[in-house]
Amino acid sequence: MEGLLATIYAAFARYLAWGLALCLALASSPPSEAATALANAKSTFIESLLARMTVEEKAGQLLMRFAEAEPPPQIVLDAVAAGNVGSVFAHPAATPAQLRTLQQHAVKHSRLGIPLFFAGDVVHGRRTIFPIGLGLASSWDLDAISVSARVAAREATGDGLDMTFAPMVDISRDPRWGRISEGFGEDTYLVSRIAATVVRGFQGELGARDSLMACVKHFAAYGAVEGGRDYNSTDVSPLRLYQDYLPPYLAAINAGAGAIMTALTSLNGVPATANGWLLRSVLRQQWQFSGLVISDHSAIEELIVHGVAQDGAQAAQRALVAGTDVSMNDRYYLQTLPGLIEQGQIEVELLDDAVRRVLAVKYDMGLFESPFRRLSGSHGAAFSNAGLALYRAEARHVARRTLVLLKNERATLPLKRQGTIALIGPLADNSRDILGSWPANGQPSQAVSLYQGLRTALGDHAQLLYALGANIHDNPPAFDLLADNQVVLDPRPPSALLAEALAIARQADVVIAALGEPRGMSHEGASKTTLDLPQQQRELLRALKMTGKPLVLVLMNGRPLSIVEESQWADAVLETWFSGSEGGNAIADVLLGDYNPSGKLPISFPRTVGQLPVHYNTLNTGRPFIKERPSKYKSRYFDLDPTPLYPFGYGLSYTTFSLSSLRLSTHQLPPGQSLQASITVKNQGSRSGETVVQLYLRDRVASVSRPIKELKGFRKVLLAPGESRRITFTVDQTALGFYNQDLQWITEPGEFDVMIGLDSQHLEHARFELLEASR
Ligand code: NOJ
Repeated sequence: MEGLLATIYAAFARYLAWGLALCLALASSPPSEAATALANAKSTFIESLLARMTVEEKAGQLLMRFAEAEPPPQIVLDAVAAGNVGSVFAHPAATPAQLRTLQQHAVKHSRLGIPLFFAGDVVHGRRTIFPIGLGLASSWDLDAISVSARVAAREATGDGLDMTFAPMVDISRDPRWGRISEGFGEDTYLVSRIAATVVRGFQGELGARDSLMACVKHFAAYGAVEGGRDYNSTDVSPLRLYQDYLPPYLAAINAGAGAIMTALTSLNGVPATANGWLLRSVLRQQWQFSGLVISDHSAIEELIVHGVAQDGAQAAQRALVAGTDVSMNDRYYLQTLPGLIEQGQIEVELLDDAVRRVLAVKYDMGLFESPFRRLSGSHGAAFSNAGLALYRAEARHVARRTLVLLKNERATLPLKRQGTIALIGPLADNSRDILGSWPANGQPSQAVSLYQGLRTALGDHAQLLYALGANIHDNPPAFDLLADNQVVLDPRPPSALLAEALAIARQADVVIAALGEPRGMSHEGASKTTLDLPQQQRELLRALKMTGKPLVLVLMNGRPLSIVEESQWADAVLETWFSGSEGGNAIADVLLGDYNPSGKLPISFPRTVGQLPVHYNTLNTGRPFIKERPSKYKSRYFDLDPTPLYPFGYGLSYTTFSLSSLRLSTHQLPPGQSLQASITVKNQGSRSGETVVQLYLRDRVASVSRPIKELKGFRKVLLAPGESRRITFTVDQTALGFYNQDLQWITEPGEFDVMIGLDSQHLEHARFELLEASR
């Protein structure tokens, strides 16, 4: 064994040295030649290793095995040493020491010494927790989002991980789906920009010690589950799939994502994990993706339950043939692939291809060169969170940019640092839920609750009173069935909690109600049939309204809620999502005016669940609803305004902005060229602030119906009081293109509307014509 190991590493060292020498020699040559030489070195190394592997060892490389947060049991170590494990999905609390033991077994005791790679769910932070996906998207600030991803990568790689199962870029327009919290909202363009930013942020320079390989998920269209019910089927027309759902995955891949995860769901009748059209035609052929395809957890076994395989062998065969390389914690690849190959039911080339890709990501992660590179503790930290310097400044900077001011009547906010403030609600002094779903290794004890944030910010200037007011949810049996269900309920009856809250509200000059959802309610397996606040919390808010005190509603939640009445009861409403480790400080910054809110919704807020789906970029239909001219035979609900309560792109500031003088550089655009659309944005108030200028386009007449507006650009700008700035967007041919009925990406000549606004509803208009190509 040692002999073989030595041979392999000597070969590797030779290839590496050769590659480096070539790189230097070719430094002045066109980059493609140097890249080709390096790619050749990599492929030679992989082929030489593959040639030495048995079929069993190859099948072993395709297994990603789960590791609990405990010293690895002998049975797992034996499996690693036997070459039966290719990678490890590590429990969030698994320590680098535990992972190191596993790696030692792989490198020192397995026949070929092939290192493992370690993966985990680092979705919005590892130890320093940043706002959830919907929050990050609300910042419309790619620099801030990039900071959050880079910090997450540093911490995760410092804890021994090589790969994260993120970003989650599933477009979703159904807030009943609990996982909507993890994504970046309803819009394809915004989600695509964020997807690319997050991938680059995680990966940095691929192979570097602090590079965390991104496994983008869940391919494809997991966010379109019918009825918003998790794991339910998805059925999406090809046009909508290409136009709306697929681009964010492609953006992540184009940004260099090393891996992609299949969805647990079926797409148009075929489970994603066995969907050859999706994984081979789209992903490999059309998109030329050469990275790794990983099944979601036990998705291969579930092919039997889906009813597309009768046993484990058939499930494994279907998944591999379709293009799933790695099975996540799922026994059938290991158990059945060697036999299937021996019986000639699967070509060994198919297995080899999948193994090549596993070896390639390990190569790209730098693991052949140095298998312990992320397990050495050289990132300067012992594993325990205690006493670690979190990236608090970064977390606060990012979090406050993600808060969205939905309402602010009579300038209720910002609050003055004086008098008595009553802070009430189950999320008011809650440092657990503020971390959101998928908190990785974030510790509630290290998160700042709103109470703590306000307490610090107010100092001795104002009195801060606190009461729970209501329990966070009122359906314990249903809650117990959630994946993340640890909440502590106050045993007192609701009337006692309410009485205590009202007593302090009456003493206060202003009341802040911190209401919303426990984090487990916006999570995997946490779909709901209503978007209402839990009943006890609604009653609390109504009672607080009756006190007549100025009332600020601070929402913490992982999905758009239906808050028609709540938004009327409250004088001000601040959507804070789940804002992470520094959430309490960030929210206090906004409530007290130390930071002027600048967030904008990345998703529409419906008035009620019955309106779903509600999104801004709909098709016009033949009978569009026109609010100003109601009539019978229109696409509408007869019992409710079909528009959202708060639209996509919406969010207020403590100052006001105006837009004027929208101009286009041309009104006749020759094909293949671009034009400039410019507008003046002015801060009309007496406080500096940021806003997001949003560019939307509409193709007025095309061979397929095109949306009434589509986001095609945005710019977040900071303006001093009274300051104006001219903002210019370039509208290029990419912004004008779309998929036609044959799923070809084309542009068609004709008229386009250009719309620019500070949300998706209030827009300045201009128009140009894309000219025909001259013959
Ligand atoms: C199942 C989830 O669908 C996926 O998003 C996650 O990455 C894996 N489990 C691993 O936790």
